[in-house]
Amino acid sequence: MASLSVARAGEQPNPEGSVDPTSRAAFRSAVIAGLDARPRALSSVWFYDAMGSLLFQRIMRLPGYYPTRVETEILEASSGEILGCLPVAPGAIVDLGAGDGAKTRLLLAAARRISPAVTYAPVDVAGEALRSATGRMRAVWPDLAVRAEQADYVEGLLRARRASGETPVLGLLLGSNVGNLEWAEAVSLLRSLRGSLAGGDHLLVGFDLLKDERVLRAAYDDPEGVTAAFNLNLLARINRELGGDLDLSAFSHRATFDLARPAMESWLVARRATVATIAGRRFRFASGEAIHTEISWKYTEAQLGALARAAGFEEVARWHDGRRWFCDALWRVGPEAR
Ligand code: AVJ
Repeated sequence: MASLSVARAGEQPNPEGSVDPTSRAAFRSAVIAGLDARPRALSSVWFYDAMGSLLFQRIMRLPGYYPTRVETEILEASSGEILGCLPVAPGAIVDLGAGDGAKTRLLLAAARRISPAVTYAPVDVAGEALRSATGRMRAVWPDLAVRAEQADYVEGLLRARRASGETPVLGLLLGSNVGNLEWAEAVSLLRSLRGSLAGGDHLLVGFDLLKDERVLRAAYDDPEGVTAAFNLNLLARINRELGGDLDLSAFSHRATFDLARPAMESWLVARRATVATIAGRRFRFASGEAIHTEISWKYTEAQLGALARAAGFEEVARWHDGRRWFCDALWRVGPEAR
């Protein structure tokens, strides 16, 4: 997600560093490079076109997809305490990947109880996402100061920081979106975010935690088939946008668990040998061949500390839901940073 950009509503991830996920040309080169690679891989950043964003909204309502509900539980219980950990009331809450705003609203409500002047600063590469995020917050608080930044996470955070002057900012990276990145990519994104901040600023990061494998598998391979449709939409998008003729019925969704990272991974597996033409190029898929499409890291408590340190942050506190399935971690930029 590096030019971590998010697409429309929902909690979108933006896993690729400097890719603009709204650009057709970037999509074409990424698809061709990903299908030429062995093993084949397509980044999850491309899931979120209009249809993919809709399907992700449906995923969030599935009984087995727990992350959104448990993080909401944490913020319902602890937003006041989280804001209370900040030595100075934040001048701005910078929402990296605005999502549907439900979780951010809980934190903003807590921030407004301390200082009603707090600015809501959603950051997204997609203008449409910014407009809907802004509209939803203004509907709740007509007097809310809003400063939307159409930019990637790092640049947007930097602009919000500059606009806040001497007042500290609180950045939000919720939904375990960082989990769509491999470890080294996550460190690099978090280091860059750290570089956009000044001493005294904070970042609240949401992490989905390692838990019973059966719970994880049920979250990423639902009997309703919504996650399968979400994954297969990537192929449908290739057909729509790149003039492809992929036979969707020749591929099936597969979710696997890798205990070594640990992480869930999503794949599209060819059920039989199939050939497709995409952007004028011919691709052959062997029966059983898998295209890697997503990684969703499931962090251990030890990894959270290691990630904070590797990215140059100081940990302030962690909040969990009742089952300890999810963690929101508050990180601080040390005073030396300014
Ligand atoms: C939006 C990245 C947090 O990885 O759990 C949901 C996306 N993929 N089901 C996740 C997703 C399959 C989701 N994030």
